[in-house]
Amino acid sequence: MLYQPSADKEELDRWKEVTLIYNSALKEIGTKLEILNDEFQDVHKYNPIEHIKARMKTSESIVKKLKSRGYESTIENMVEHVNDIAGIRVICSFTSDIYRIADMLAAQDDLRILATKDYIKAPKPSGYKSYHMLVTVPVFLSNRVVEVKVEIQIRTVAMDFWASLEHKIYYKFEGNAPEHIQQSLVNCAKIVEQLDAEMLSLNNEVQSFVKE
Ligand code: GTP
Ligand code: MG
Repeated sequence: MLYQPSADKEELDRWKEVTLIYNSALKEIGTKLEILNDEFQDVHKYNPIEHIKARMKTSESIVKKLKSRGYESTIENMVEHVNDIAGIRVICSFTSDIYRIADMLAAQDDLRILATKDYIKAPKPSGYKSYHMLVTVPVFLSNRVVEVKVEIQIRTVAMDFWASLEHKIYYKFEGNAPEHIQQSLVNCAKIVEQLDAEMLSLNNEVQSFVKE
């Protein structure tokens, strides 16, 4: 069991260790992203990252996810089957920055890319857009190295705005929002897409102006 008060000392220690490992993985990825952003600022006088949010999934959500997939709530199952225990969200200025960041991460030797999902090229039926990468990063402990899974979501400020509000509405209706609200959200996603496209072309124009 993951977090039950009835857990024995050995299990609690193991849970503490696992939490420490996932938090360390978040720090590793967070630092990588900050370095890329700083270097970009230095070389190109421009920072592609607006901000970064890291979070660890609560034990309640982990248990819920395992249950919904028919797994018993054990630490082994969670490490094996829950890919988003450590999650990091990278909010970029422009759509082009998303791919730039993704490529730069993919080029790093110590990161292993387990999967990518491009919900920008192929948005979800909800209208959701974002670029997802599931990676492993090595965490160096006193006596061993652990490869830890981290889910990275990369999106623009506008995509993030949409996703946050949609998430709130989704929860309010427990996943069963009325048809017209769902349709309205899909329309909003289209507006977000237009906004991102226009901001990008505006930026390209400004950049070429600056270069002249
Ligand atoms: P999960 O079991 O939800 O993690 O599904 P999955 O393993 O198939 O991953 P997927 O890439 O579809 O989605 C993972 C994460 O992306 C979710 O936990 C959300 O943070 C985000 N996400 C996916 N779809 C939506 C959506 O329609 N709306 C919002 N707001 N977020 C979404
Ligand atoms: Mg998830």
